[in-house]
Amino acid sequence: MSVPFLADWRHNTKVNALEYKQIYGHWQTIDMPEEFRLNTIHAAVLPTGKVLMVAGSGNNRANFDAFHDDNRIQVLKTVILDPKNNSLKTIETPSDLFCSGHALLQTGKLLVAGGTTGYEKIDNITRPAGVVVVHNENPDSPVKEFKKGTRFKSPAGKTYISLQAITVQPAHKMDHGRGIVHIMHSSQKVFVEAIADDASFITDKNEQYSIEGLSGSDVHNIYGMGGPMTLDKQDYRGDDKAYEFDPIKEVYVKVGDMGEARWYPSLPVLQNGQVLAVSGLDIAGHITETTEFYDPATKLWSWGPNRAIPTYPALFRTQNPDVLFYSGSNAGYGPADKGREPGFWNIKTNEFKVVPGLRYPNILETSASVMLPPKQGSNDGSQSHRIMVAGGGGIGESLLVTDRVDIIDLEHVNPRFTPGPNLPDPVRYLNVTVTPWDEIFATGGTIDYRSKSNSYSYNSFSYNPTNNKITKMADSPIGRGYHSGSLLLPDGRIFVFGGDPLFGDKDNTTPGKFEQRVEIYTPPQFFKGSKPKVHGQHMQQVKRGGRVVLSTEVGTTDFKTARLIPPSSATHVTNIEQRSIGAKISINKKELVVEIPNDGNDLPNGWYMLFVTDKNGIPADAIMVEVTS
Ligand code: CU
Repeated sequence: MSVPFLADWRHNTKVNALEYKQIYGHWQTIDMPEEFRLNTIHAAVLPTGKVLMVAGSGNNRANFDAFHDDNRIQVLKTVILDPKNNSLKTIETPSDLFCSGHALLQTGKLLVAGGTTGYEKIDNITRPAGVVVVHNENPDSPVKEFKKGTRFKSPAGKTYISLQAITVQPAHKMDHGRGIVHIMHSSQKVFVEAIADDASFITDKNEQYSIEGLSGSDVHNIYGMGGPMTLDKQDYRGDDKAYEFDPIKEVYVKVGDMGEARWYPSLPVLQNGQVLAVSGLDIAGHITETTEFYDPATKLWSWGPNRAIPTYPALFRTQNPDVLFYSGSNAGYGPADKGREPGFWNIKTNEFKVVPGLRYPNILETSASVMLPPKQGSNDGSQSHRIMVAGGGGIGESLLVTDRVDIIDLEHVNPRFTPGPNLPDPVRYLNVTVTPWDEIFATGGTIDYRSKSNSYSYNSFSYNPTNNKITKMADSPIGRGYHSGSLLLPDGRIFVFGGDPLFGDKDNTTPGKFEQRVEIYTPPQFFKGSKPKVHGQHMQQVKRGGRVVLSTEVGTTDFKTARLIPPSSATHVTNIEQRSIGAKISINKKELVVEIPNDGNDLPNGWYMLFVTDKNGIPADAIMVEVTS
């Protein structure tokens, strides 16, 4: 007799029993036919209520090579899931969006910026390679496109070819008045490789390279500043492409290229609707200190303040539109001694004010950061401005891991982190989701770096910030660590995706396999009563300070709270958009009247899921609203 089978049967019987679900909730794996399966590394809930799942090349070198060398664009994957009926649709992916950044714009379109133009190479590097910065000194030049494979010649007569296509702008003309005009050359970085496996291409010099194929005055005006060229380890290289994903037409629409290529950038949306792209590895695989603003009106980028900060930094909007709060959480790349401390960053003056109190500041990589919801059950329109940092690992491939939970109130006169309750286990890559019933649902993670030694935590739990208690929920059936994430769905359930173990076995001998299964978690209270129903116009506009009127057949007195939670996006344990805004609810016969808060810092323009939740903590399906000024 097979004991494991019996154990499985017993386990399945247990977790499928109603009494179990009523206490711990329930996990369900979505059946995805083969053609739709993908390495979901990025996911976003759209204003239509559908879920966009993005892999790009999906951390799969064969896919990357097929796209890069043979232009097989179909290996790059994006799929849309409608969680209402689990229907799936494949979307054409225009470039390798693996490790891009994303943010839902106030317009309802999803900005996706950056991605991959090169996979890392650690050993067996036989071709000297390096960076050439292409300069254009002609302000009257047209915009110049240089294809991948463009040849650059060094003064020593050595030829190197570019590994990315680049766009070179004309030089900038700066008119200082009184007839004084300054010309500043434009510059665009590109990564190049020697044409041969030959050590004579190695150089430590930085010198001027000529570009093949130029003619006329371009020969003098456009040139490269190249070097050094080495056989050093090469990191992943970023992309400067950016798109707006249109949730209605369900297509990517190209917008202006970023000034810098970025791999692992964060894209906080500011109160004014602009987006700041921060951090990332550039076109040469070096971490960038540049930042840049995206303007959705012009669809163009402009430089922001320079700051050294690790990749995928957790940056939150605050009550001051000029100030972002950095919790210290990040996901993966950057020097140990730069940009690791949490604090307030004024993006106008570029001042950074460190906040004290965070324990184990050296164990913040792949930690989770989330803005906590308002006081549980509150119906006074009050907000929370507290941020929780949970778990995390040491820098790089470190053995350090923590069960730390620290919380900071950003509105305190002297903000500082104070300890919360410890996690059930030390863990990195913990996925946290804000819920309409004012708790944080947490799941997944691993103890070791990138799931090594199959060190999964199967714990799931709910954290209630109002009473500071952690409650056990149903164990996740699937282990998920690096490259996993979670999102709140408009029906109040939680979508969980991804997982990318380095190895497939406990002894770390076989390569890992990407976890392509996606799951939906239904919380326990959904099994205790029927889901309340409200009616209201979907995708309606409402003015800040205005009201939304919802109707319902059941007793309106059963409803307790209203919360506005933006549809958000997640990647690499980073979701800086999710937050819950308290709105007041009042009852007028069979109508529920929701008063939309009037504070543009708490509630900037944009799209929100409006949840009303009953006295049992069960939310009705959200009404999608667009808040305007
Ligand atoms: Cu990654």
